[in-house]
Amino acid sequence: MAVQPRRKVRALRRSRRILVLHGPNLNLVGTREPAIYGATTLADIDAQLKALASELGVAVNTFQSNSEGELVDRIQAARNSATAIVINAGAYTHTSVAIRDALLATELPVVEVHLSNTYKREAFRHRSLIADIAVGQVVGFGADSYLLGLRAAAGVLARHAR
Ligand code: DQA
Repeated sequence: MAVQPRRKVRALRRSRRILVLHGPNLNLVGTREPAIYGATTLADIDAQLKALASELGVAVNTFQSNSEGELVDRIQAARNSATAIVINAGAYTHTSVAIRDALLATELPVVEVHLSNTYKREAFRHRSLIADIAVGQVVGFGADSYLLGLRAAAGVLARHAR
């Protein structure tokens, strides 16, 4: 890859600011049902996301909340601070019209991720209120779902920039 001048790298990073959202109970990842969600903690996932972001030349911010309202507030704020969203809305994926509406209001590209393969699990997890407004979904790869999701979001932004 050609070496880019620092100014160009900073400008590119500003145009590729990816917000990664973790919904309810994801603060417990690593200890919560490890057979389903894996042994990697959320702090480790966030650290891996930061490392990958700098490799990809994008800026990443992460946020976790157990509260639907706080997630909606953070998504609304993303209208001015992010250029794409990667979201694991946890159980709200299957229930929250408010999160769906907030994502729509941002008009930003959204990538949906899940640690587990929700389609191999209970029927109520097969429905996502985010799937049809997302660019795509990454499910079932554990912590790697987030990393693949970040790569996908960075790819979408790179294509937009052309
Ligand atoms: C999850 C799947 C959801 O069904 C569940 O409620 C979660 C985690 C996942 O990452 O696999 O909390 O989003």
